[in-house]
Amino acid sequence: MTLPKTTAELRALDAAHHLHPFSDMKSLNAEGSRIVVKAEGVWLTDSDGNRILDGMSGLWCVNVGYGREEIVEAVAAQLRELPYYNTFFKTTHRPAIELSAKLAELTPPQFNKVFFTGSGSESNDTVIKLVRRYFQIKEKPEKKIIISRRNAYHGSTVAAGSLGGMAPMHGQSAVIPDILHIAQPYFWGEARQGETPEEFGLRTARALEAAIDAMGEDRIAAFIAEPVQGAGGVIIPPASYWPEIARICRERDILFVSDEVICGFGRTGSWFGCETFGTEPDILVMAKGITSGYMPLGGVMVADRVAEVLHEGGDFNHGYTYSGHPAACAAALANLAIMQREDLVGRVANDVGPYLQARWNALAEHPLVGEAPMLGLVGALELTPDKLGRTKFPDVGKVGTLARDFSFKNNLVMRAVRDRLIIAPPLVISHEECDELIARVRKTLDDTFAELKRWGWVR
Ligand SMILES: Cc1ncc(COP(=O)(O)O)c(C=O)c1O
Repeated sequence: MTLPKTTAELRALDAAHHLHPFSDMKSLNAEGSRIVVKAEGVWLTDSDGNRILDGMSGLWCVNVGYGREEIVEAVAAQLRELPYYNTFFKTTHRPAIELSAKLAELTPPQFNKVFFTGSGSESNDTVIKLVRRYFQIKEKPEKKIIISRRNAYHGSTVAAGSLGGMAPMHGQSAVIPDILHIAQPYFWGEARQGETPEEFGLRTARALEAAIDAMGEDRIAAFIAEPVQGAGGVIIPPASYWPEIARICRERDILFVSDEVICGFGRTGSWFGCETFGTEPDILVMAKGITSGYMPLGGVMVADRVAEVLHEGGDFNHGYTYSGHPAACAAALANLAIMQREDLVGRVANDVGPYLQARWNALAEHPLVGEAPMLGLVGALELTPDKLGRTKFPDVGKVGTLARDFSFKNNLVMRAVRDRLIIAPPLVISHEECDELIARVRKTLDDTFAELKRWGWVR
């Protein structure tokens, strides 16, 4: 086969052979995908030579930015020395040992043990088995229901997709039993008329208490939540929400699982989102930023009180060929060394975070924007025809997609969830690059507004 060179040739091969995740393949093939060929810092280059500002850190993962030779070298050195060995059957290797100790150091004090996986989805599959096993060992096997939230995203395997609250995913595959979804803390989209954020936060948090009472505490194993819902549209809960959830979890005999696949590793201005919100999880789920996406890796941190029970329970019949893959662990160690040396978490909390937040929040003045929240370096823009009435556009998702496509044309990667634009740039983004990002967002909003005027959808 001769190697394809032009963008058109590559697109034709892609259309012929590649099924893309979460894509409408018919319309994608008609349009052709954008082909990214290289990247440096926060900038992507496509096969036509366009320089694109990556406002999404790939898929919320490239926290230290692209082009970090240090990680590349660490992976190459590890592949030369020991490209693969497993961690089953009483064996292990140096990178897995070092990384587990490093994670125990970086995570909140209750965590000293990690189970390695290859992704966020695999981590959440692990969580389901792990919490059910925990209560089996405690001789409470009937405690197996896991409470999650509507519009949560916990991955796309059958089990992780069931745990998530994405109706379009549930509609395409069987959902596993014993998972219950409660309300999400999405103030803009779901608060009642006249309800304050404080009242709404308490009401949605108390849905957890009501669900535990309705099902019976003796049947509930765990509650799982993202500190900030990412794929659901960057839903930052009102201030009253997490303290109330923390109270309920403390009072009830259930495990609290914080899914930190997006919020972990600095995104919210702390190492982990649970620290930003002051909650104390029993299980902490990680992936993405653990390696900044340079290699696939995930993990489940288990608090001491849970680990002690699991230790008493004999075999845990679970594991993946690539649990603790040596090269992925080497990538994680190099990535975390960069994060610590450059104090990227402190930078998000005290420097670039506040810098971008101020400019982002000011976008709420645009006629198309209902709210423009941002925490750390993760933010959203709710697009609306009427700010005061918190009105939605007809045909939900159409305006979001329109704006997302304008953003692509303006060489900025933003993502659209319903009619909400979301952003999560690499934690290394400079002030100048933040200014450039905001300029491109403004242009995108103006382009979208002008088009909607042509449609007669806004005045
Ligand atoms: C909160 C959360 N959990 C789990 C996952 C699934 O991770 P993966 O795609 O690595 O399986 C994601 C992916 O975006 C996520 O955002």
